Amino acid sequence: MTFALSPSVIIRPEPNGALLFQQETAETALLDLEGLDALYFLLKGELRDYPIFFVKYLRDQQFIVPGPPDGTVEEVARVRDKAPQTTAPPRSLAAPETLHLSLTGACDQACEGCFYSARPGSDVTADLMDWSLFERVITAAGEARVFQIAMGGGEPLLHPRVVDMARLARAHGIVPNLTTNGNRLDTEMAAALREAGLGQAQISLNGATPEVNGRTRPNFAAAMRAIEACRQAGLRWGINFLLTRSNVHELADVIALGRRLGATSVNVLRPKPPTTEGDWLARESLTAADYRTVQTILREVIRHPQHADTQRATRNTSTRLTLDASLTFLLTDRSPAQLYRQGAWGCSAARRFCTVIQDGRVLPCSHVRWSDVAGGDFMQAWWESEVFARFRGQEEVIGGWCAGCAYLDLCKGCRAVVMAFEGDFTASDPHCPRRGRR
Ligand SMILES: C[S@@+](CC[C@H](N)C(=O)[O-])C[C@H]1O[C@@H](n2cnc3c(N)ncnc32)[C@H](O)[C@@H]1O
Repeated sequence: MTFALSPSVIIRPEPNGALLFQQETAETALLDLEGLDALYFLLKGELRDYPIFFVKYLRDQQFIVPGPPDGTVEEVARVRDKAPQTTAPPRSLAAPETLHLSLTGACDQACEGCFYSARPGSDVTADLMDWSLFERVITAAGEARVFQIAMGGGEPLLHPRVVDMARLARAHGIVPNLTTNGNRLDTEMAAALREAGLGQAQISLNGATPEVNGRTRPNFAAAMRAIEACRQAGLRWGINFLLTRSNVHELADVIALGRRLGATSVNVLRPKPPTTEGDWLARESLTAADYRTVQTILREVIRHPQHADTQRATRNTSTRLTLDASLTFLLTDRSPAQLYRQGAWGCSAARRFCTVIQDGRVLPCSHVRWSDVAGGDFMQAWWESEVFARFRGQEEVIGGWCAGCAYLDLCKGCRAVVMAFEGDFTASDPHCPRRGRR
């Protein structure tokens, strides 16, 4: 049987290898030179004794499709030629695979623990990303072969040009996604975003019931309407579930809800420091013991998808469950070698992604406000920022309990959380479920 790269796959060179991105599924695969060679000969129809697992993996993840050799062989050949000369900063990709873009700092609702937004009533027009800045960032991202952007903020649907932004990103070969509270996501907006090429709308929902969602987010009904609007418009959507002590008991129910309604993914987030004063973070953060309970819930949800689906309607078991990188410590029932093969990186700030905020400052991640590069020049930051260098060197300086952990390189905990609780960039992650275990 012969194969070609799927038409939705982008491939770019990396130091001694290549990175593939499936635009439909948002899957990435990092190949070393040997893997890249195998892919090249596979597409040429000359791979003998091919590793079955390799081909099965590429096929299952829709990186390759059955078909006669086509122009994609030459594309892979070009990447193969470039890979040995491609460089990247330490422990990083040659360029971000994802850029997080804050389109505005403003929001039309006030969630108590929000890590970013200005309060309602703030002047939206004074706090929007300029079109010219957005255009500059997207042009540079297209040249660097960035795969996707995550538009957020603030509330990205408050930006009057959000649909044009999605369209421009697509025109540069980049998949645009956005995270929204859903208040303004009606059927018309969902259809416009779909037509503009939006990859996925991630709708924030912190509970399966108004009561539990209401403990951390005020707009259950609007979020559910937004989900319905995406379904009506045929726009791919997912749920962002911020896992807190207020809603941990509804984790399985929210996953079930996503499955039932046809979410492409349910993304579980960990609480990070909010912009507001007060004890929200301490109150809502899960402890190491709580996270051990979460591990049990997740194991159950993964093993028995139907158990989570208590309300029995059309179940969609293809809903992907994804974890925020700062929750990598939940995956430590797999060995470090397994996690590595499955592509775990843990904290990927300044390694796989970075953030550009509405005033053009470039940050290693959306949860720290340290920046030494402005003007949206994320590639300058990628290569020259000392803040980025600090994040890339974190495993060398982390002390305490984490320093002796076999998963340190693949996890690293969350520096934003660590700094909030311990006041020290180099401290151990206080919430790791492996802590306190014999
Ligand atoms: C800051 S919001 C901005 C996008 C949009 N306004 C919304 O509400 O979804 C982006 C995501 O961050 C999550 N989030 C808010 N506060 C957080 C915090 N303190 N820690 C971690 N995630 C948080 C939200 O639940 C949401 O999914």
